[in-house]
Amino acid sequence: MSRTYRISPSLLSADFTRLGEEVQDVISAGADWIHFDVMDNHYVPNLTFGPMICKALKPLCKKADGTPVPIDVHLMVQPVDALAAAFAEAGADLISFHPDASTHVHRSVQAIRAAGCQAGLVFNPGTPLDVLDWMIEDIDLVLIMSVNPGFGGQAFIDSALRKIEDVRRRIDASGKDIRLEVDGGIKTDNIARVAAAGADTFVAGSAIFGQKDYAGVIGAMRKALG
Ligand code: DX5
Ligand code: ZN
Repeated sequence: MSRTYRISPSLLSADFTRLGEEVQDVISAGADWIHFDVMDNHYVPNLTFGPMICKALKPLCKKADGTPVPIDVHLMVQPVDALAAAFAEAGADLISFHPDASTHVHRSVQAIRAAGCQAGLVFNPGTPLDVLDWMIEDIDLVLIMSVNPGFGGQAFIDSALRKIEDVRRRIDASGKDIRLEVDGGIKTDNIARVAAAGADTFVAGSAIFGQKDYAGVIGAMRKALG
């Protein structure tokens, strides 16, 4: 089955002294989405950026011809709802959260969608997919973590491949148009395996921002995807 692949560079590995330029550079290099990792030093042991930074970057998130580039917010925060609302207000296009961080998962999804954003659920390497039994009809995206959340530059955890296959079966069975995104340890040399397992959207932080030639890396990833 042919899928439209999307590459979503994670700003976590960008140069924070020139964040705006980094966003523009990675978009010119071919980024489809901008992945925005929000960490709260509570749900994960790290602290990053909030809605004010998202709002500041929003006007830069477009291609040279003016086509908008979606902001893909990955919330690693607990609780979820107040920050999700703040990110919707700040210009997020997609908002994903970890179901184990929300007391009422369905309500959180409804609130994100009511605010005009697409909603995603994120599963850690050790978290089962059970909530999908009840949520698949109501979401736009599933994000599978192939590292434990909190830091860039970690090694890909292979059991994520089995989980991606499982999610792919569930999405196909649902007949719904749901993106299957993978986050953590994605490189040019493993992206094809991850796609073969069923993923269609790929977050990459250190693999892209760790190199000088962003277009070279994104091009090599697309080439590997075929
Ligand atoms: C980790 C973040 C990732 C991170 C991925 O908690 O969710 O988005 O930036 O970094 P790499 O691609 O370096 O593994
Ligand atoms: Zn992420």
